[in-house]
Amino acid sequence: MEFKGTRTVITGGANGIGRALAFEITRRGGKVVLLDLNPQALKAAGEQLSCPWYVCDVTEEAHLTSCVLEIQQEHGPIDMWISGAGVLSPDPTHAASANNDMWTRAWDVHVMAHVYAARCLLPTMLDRGRGYLVNIASAAGLLCQIGDAAYSATKHAAVSFAQSLAISHGDQGISVSVVCPQYVSTPLLGYDNDHVSDETGLLSSKDAAILICDGLEQQDFLILTHPEVADYTQFKAQNPEKWIKGMQRLRDKQYDEDGILKIGQLHRLV
Ligand SMILES: NC(=O)c1ccc[n+]([C@@H]2O[C@H](COP(=O)([O-])OP(=O)(O)OC[C@H]3O[C@@H](n4cnc5c(N)ncnc54)[C@H](O)[C@@H]3O)[C@@H](O)[C@H]2O)c1
Repeated sequence: MEFKGTRTVITGGANGIGRALAFEITRRGGKVVLLDLNPQALKAAGEQLSCPWYVCDVTEEAHLTSCVLEIQQEHGPIDMWISGAGVLSPDPTHAASANNDMWTRAWDVHVMAHVYAARCLLPTMLDRGRGYLVNIASAAGLLCQIGDAAYSATKHAAVSFAQSLAISHGDQGISVSVVCPQYVSTPLLGYDNDHVSDETGLLSSKDAAILICDGLEQQDFLILTHPEVADYTQFKAQNPEKWIKGMQRLRDKQYDEDGILKIGQLHRLV
């Protein structure tokens, strides 16, 4: 597919990967609409791109549905929906120690937000015989984010829902992609949006967006910005016990003396 002549809505579009995707899709000739919870960052991104933006909490189904209707009325049909909003929920102590509100928020942002979008958009997309649903999951959805059980579990669920969408509707004109990046220098990891990375394993959001857009143009189901993730996933499937042992060794390296997870530094240890 080509972005030229298409309209893409990007959630989490105010920052990081979502914002970089908005720039890259625009550069390739597509139109974008941004959704985010953060009004200041959203306005800044929308003004920089001269594109429409809507403040929206994607975990509120009624709010998300009314945004979709407003976008369709004001700007026309939505060709592609990218669920990019994401949150970390680091385990305070042990793997079950994040409270229920943290688990619910991770589930709502990473899984239900995409279910709500698909529920609202699929009838029209199926009528039109075309549409593209994209979820920015994570390598943690195939492997694991050490120190963030809620993130890992809900990103696995995000990958699973993408599989269900593709199996149910992939031959009805609906394209589906799930993006599983490893480390990208974004505000989520404590970097500026425009941080330029020259470190191994850490992509800038701009470079990640280029790779993701290449995968979307090819309509790949699974888009990996870090090809080594395919090797790790294969190793995990073939040697689950060895994989757990290796992850335990990695866990030991990832905490500093006070037991704090160095989230922005993790790429250096992989
Ligand atoms: N940065 C990485 O290394 C990395 C790696 C793998 C996957 N991801 C995933 O990529 C996606 C984008 O991450 P990022 O690093 O750009 O993060 P980011 O924090 O830079 O941007 C995420 C955006 O999502 C928005 N958001 C959060 N909750 C929301 C809600 N309820 N409604 C609307 N907007 C909401 C935030 O306001 C923010 O602007 C996330 O799903 C993340 O899990 C990131």
